[in-house]
Amino acid sequence: MIKFVSVDRIKPGVTLARDIYGIDTFTERIVMLKAGQTLTPAHITKLMGLDLQGVYISERKSNEILIPDKTKAELVNLFDEFHAHIDEASLGLYNEYIDDATNTLSDFVDAVLDQDDLTFNIENLNFHDNIQYNHALSIAVLCIAMARELRLNKNSIFNLAFAAIIHDIGDSQLPAGLLEKPAKLTEEEFEEVKKHTIEGFNIVSSSSNNVSSHIKEGVLSHHERYDGSGYPNGLKGKNIPFFARIISVADVYSALTSSRPYRSAYQPAEAIEYIMGNAGRQFDPGVVKAFLKVVSPYPIGSCVKISSGEKAVVAEQNPKNPLRPVIFLIDDPTTIIDLYNDSCFYNIVITDLIAE
Ligand SMILES: [Fe+2]
Ligand SMILES: [Fe+2]
Repeated sequence: MIKFVSVDRIKPGVTLARDIYGIDTFTERIVMLKAGQTLTPAHITKLMGLDLQGVYISERKSNEILIPDKTKAELVNLFDEFHAHIDEASLGLYNEYIDDATNTLSDFVDAVLDQDDLTFNIENLNFHDNIQYNHALSIAVLCIAMARELRLNKNSIFNLAFAAIIHDIGDSQLPAGLLEKPAKLTEEEFEEVKKHTIEGFNIVSSSSNNVSSHIKEGVLSHHERYDGSGYPNGLKGKNIPFFARIISVADVYSALTSSRPYRSAYQPAEAIEYIMGNAGRQFDPGVVKAFLKVVSPYPIGSCVKISSGEKAVVAEQNPKNPLRPVIFLIDDPTTIIDLYNDSCFYNIVITDLIAE
């Protein structure tokens, strides 16, 4: 929601909804502050010196997703259609539906790529009540966002999104009820679950000649791990197909941030920490780098609690480490803390996202 606020009532931490213009020495109209900027005390002092009645600010909740609701709704519809085709496909009608599914997915990829800012908090990618459906969709969106960072071309992004959506298609061949078991799996059951990678590969391979080999490899190898500890083939490093290396990061992040019958969901920050900590072990470090650019556990303007017990507002993101943004203290807004670059604050961590 956008609100007009008089200059004397602006609080640090709010986000500008529209550009603020000024006049330079050549009497040209120039943008002084851009929409989307989080206002710090210094900005507010600057605004006070201008002849302004007020500014437009956006009232963003701290964990609001940056994909607009309308697009989100369109994505759900597109995905709904696509998923229906895929469901029919996994029942043996794959060839017949593959073209329809392809057209729908193409619109879906376009809708996601149309977003200027694809930084998001996956907690807010709750598109649907169905867990598997939600898992596939949020992974697809994450993969598209990472692929953009990795500078993949449009055709590759499309194929990656395709692979991401059907990566668990082999689940349909598992014994009924196994995935819904309200407890941790036994070793034998886990061995059974592992087969979904090969089953998925078989479904995709036997169904259509149109499916790119990259998609098949993505489905087969999404549980391989960079250090060779994954399955089904224990592949290592760059021997793991690129799509599978991307999907595995999105897959683990989505799985960790979803609750399971036997454990509650990780906070996005905890899941990001897990992925960062496993860069070069479980995950391709280059893919993790792209991942860190698209996930945002602490969006700009959100209120956080830090380990010293104080409350702060996030003023700037850090693309190298989203867990260590630039913040300022609520009780002392002139104290700007760069959690990543300022060595005096290396011992300070963000402990919680809090309501404003
Ligand atoms: Fe899987
Ligand atoms: Fe999965």
